[in-house]
Amino acid sequence: MGAAMFDHLDSLPPDAIIAMMQQAQADGRAHKVDLGVGVYKDATGAVPIMRAVKAAEQRILAEEKTKSYVGTTGRAGFRDHVLDLVLGADHPACASGRLASSQAAGGSGALRIGAQLAFSATPNATVWVSTPTWANHVPLIGSTGLRLKSYPYYNRQTLGVDYEDMLAHLDAHAEAGDLVLLHGCCHNPTGADLSPQQWDRLVPFLNDRGLVHFIDLAYLGLGRGLDEDRYGLRLAARDCPELIFTVSASKNFGLYKERVGLLGVLCKTPEQAGVVQSQLGAIQRTLISMPPDHGAQIVERILGDGELKRDWLDELAEMRERMRGLRRMLSDALDVQGGEHIARAVTDQNGMFSMLPVTPQQAERLRDDHAIYMTDSGRINIAGANAGNIPRVAEALLDVLS
Ligand SMILES: Cc1ncc(COP(=O)(O)O)c(C=O)c1O
Repeated sequence: MGAAMFDHLDSLPPDAIIAMMQQAQADGRAHKVDLGVGVYKDATGAVPIMRAVKAAEQRILAEEKTKSYVGTTGRAGFRDHVLDLVLGADHPACASGRLASSQAAGGSGALRIGAQLAFSATPNATVWVSTPTWANHVPLIGSTGLRLKSYPYYNRQTLGVDYEDMLAHLDAHAEAGDLVLLHGCCHNPTGADLSPQQWDRLVPFLNDRGLVHFIDLAYLGLGRGLDEDRYGLRLAARDCPELIFTVSASKNFGLYKERVGLLGVLCKTPEQAGVVQSQLGAIQRTLISMPPDHGAQIVERILGDGELKRDWLDELAEMRERMRGLRRMLSDALDVQGGEHIARAVTDQNGMFSMLPVTPQQAERLRDDHAIYMTDSGRINIAGANAGNIPRVAEALLDVLS
């Protein structure tokens, strides 16, 4: 009898967004608009390599002398620069000795290591995630064995955050020691963020209940600005005894396929940070041994060089402003009878995504009748549009919504 190891495996459906991306690519209609997949596109529809990235990469190619292993938690220089970037170099946490950190394979790798650390420390804890949240949060965190539950977040009628419901739900159901996953900025998939005032109230609210902040910062600089986008993380890092946070360089450095991310953990004492640091290395070792290096080297170069960093910040601001401009255009075009509330939401929301109140059937009609691609949930990536096709997107939306 031969081996039969794979006889009982079922084939799995393709990821919905990837399947739609392929459908959009295969669509031969010249006027098609792909608002589906979550990558930043410029006005020509290209996913560009940022200028500072190209320059740093050229220097690395010329100067790099070895491809030898770096270590399980990656480059110390990368970690320090990214911590300074996301917290602000002047933040008390940076000099406290209470931070442990690890380079990771993208924000996803950081989420996986962070969740594994939480599971090792408190295997019975629940991780609370927003409704909705980034679809991959669930398998990435759930695959550690941690339990996930949802709290109310996005209101599909008001197109804003159901803040009081969120707090009331966590108050009633979360238990001390549970973790609350929060999007640092540019909530994916809704674009609806917590305001500074809402963060101001949320941080002590969670602390008073012994709940641990788990902040995912995947879009720093692509929302309202560097300082605005890191407001919640900085506040939590100032006021929380313990905190887990993840950073992705995929979108704001355009380094998607290079897989660059960081996990940060704020601990009660420097001694605990030392313990956690050893755990992070051990966890990465069991998952992928060591993180990929090339992209992290690029980020370290850019953040460590005044000129490259300035150029990167300038280009990041250009990307952000392009998306804010598109939001204003779409909002103006939707600001007619029946579209007013969407018009308002589109400019209130941040980053690449907005979640529009379309049904899966209406999303299908947009694809079939208008060659406009968005997920069935109504999530659009505003960077997939341009000034030329925004009026048509608005018209098509008003048509299917009427
Ligand atoms: C909310 C959120 N977190 C984390 C990530 C992780 O991205 P990556 O693993 O590509 O860095 C993404 C990517 O889409 C995201 O939207």
